[in-house]
Amino acid sequence: MAITINHRLADLAALDSPLLVIALAADGPQPIALDRLDSLLGGSIKRTLERRDFRGARDETLHLSGAARGVERLLLIGLGKGTERPAAIRRAAAIASRRAVTLGSGHVDFYAGSVTDEEVEAATVGLIAGAWEYKELKTPPPEEERRRPLGSATVLADDDLTGARGVAAGVAVGEGHSLARRLAMMPGNLCTPDYLVETAHDIAMRHKLGVTVLGREEMEQESMGSFLCVAQATPQDPKLIALEYRRGPADLPPVVLVGKGLCFDTGGISIKPAQSMELMKFDMCGAAGVLGAMEAISRLDLAVNVVGLVGATTNMPSGTAVKPGDVVRASNGKYIEIINTDAEGRLVLADVLGYARRFNPAAVIDAATLTGACVIALGHTASGVMGSDEDLIQEVLAAGRRAGEPGWQLPLWDDYRELIKSDVADVKNSGGRPAGTITAALFLKEFAEGYPWVHLDIAGTAYSETDLVTIPRGPTGVPTGTFVEFVRGRAR
Ligand code: BES
Ligand code: MN
Ligand code: ZN
Repeated sequence: MAITINHRLADLAALDSPLLVIALAADGPQPIALDRLDSLLGGSIKRTLERRDFRGARDETLHLSGAARGVERLLLIGLGKGTERPAAIRRAAAIASRRAVTLGSGHVDFYAGSVTDEEVEAATVGLIAGAWEYKELKTPPPEEERRRPLGSATVLADDDLTGARGVAAGVAVGEGHSLARRLAMMPGNLCTPDYLVETAHDIAMRHKLGVTVLGREEMEQESMGSFLCVAQATPQDPKLIALEYRRGPADLPPVVLVGKGLCFDTGGISIKPAQSMELMKFDMCGAAGVLGAMEAISRLDLAVNVVGLVGATTNMPSGTAVKPGDVVRASNGKYIEIINTDAEGRLVLADVLGYARRFNPAAVIDAATLTGACVIALGHTASGVMGSDEDLIQEVLAAGRRAGEPGWQLPLWDDYRELIKSDVADVKNSGGRPAGTITAALFLKEFAEGYPWVHLDIAGTAYSETDLVTIPRGPTGVPTGTFVEFVRGRAR
């Protein structure tokens, strides 16, 4: 979806719009141009507000048809009360473009009064998010039934904002989100480890990044027995992908972003129930977030060094599959007893986190759809955040808040370590149901040695099984925004 966005002084008399969206707060000042706009449109907005037909509540919309003066359709959207303005604008803008898609308006003008650069960026990110669709695998309807695709959007502003910094940044982040969502939505037979490699190469080629790919053989040479045991039942070659973005000082240690890339997770021998198993195509959302972030960071042209690592494979049952009770040896030398072959993400990440060390990282952040327990604990609202460095945890939490992708910290106390002690090996890959998110993170901690590290459990936040108002059921783009905001924070 190509969507072009401009901001310009709201030149009302010359307004010619198939769909004008006006975002209004429930409290606080109304846009400067509202009165003028309203008189041009025959006073319908004022009457609506006076009647309290529309109150500006969060997500509230009111469609005023028959609008005049070159405005074909007029839509009011509420910004809510007391919410942070960039976040409220991002949300309203997403609803606006989503509506524009269903209306088939072809273009949408979004007006929220006076806006800062940051708010223009938020509007842009929202407009792109709301316009996102995955239609690649649907036969297009006959010509006469086709809606006009949303080709462009404009952020109108009272201010004459010089330059288009907010728009450019918003497009960068929005494109990153869209890439992550597309990869996540693709079915497992199309989005394979090879396809993630192809995508990484495509990003690398367009933005001049370095790319290294390890296959089964190379991983054997690296003694990655943990990653490889997950991949031993699939004929597809597993891939460890490293994308290197180096536009910072040569001696500046990089931020390393790590993503779980299970292109499908059946559970293996500890096979999952059939009910909803198809959702496990989303088990590569961490990897999608890394690739989306590398795309966005490249577009932002930040003066930093960032390495993106993806551990990609498929968890399958077969005669060659790893079994409960088996013991494998990770690349850092630690022995792991496999209790449950469905706790495979941590096995893949163990060796990817070990691999991260060779980059001498300033910080490592991994994201993984790691545990169902995290969905139980935090629902679809917040990602689980844990790590080995309190300052880094706070930095990641702040990045998530800025991105509109909130996280919540869980404790990595030593007491929980008891749950993953093994009778035969150094550690076991499952601690059972109690504190499942924490024991998974404690397992990872055994392999995240030698650098500050934070883990994001995005099992509940990377995709949604219900419509989220701003976006439909499916992938959300999490954790792309968190990664990007973290790296931007470091670039400042
Ligand atoms: N990919 C799943 C986690 C998951 C579950 C993500 C539901 C999203 C929604 C992961 O590989 C898994 O199966 N984890 C197990 C771990 C258990 C066996 C210790 C889980 O959460 O049940
Ligand atoms: Mn699993
Ligand atoms: Zn999994």
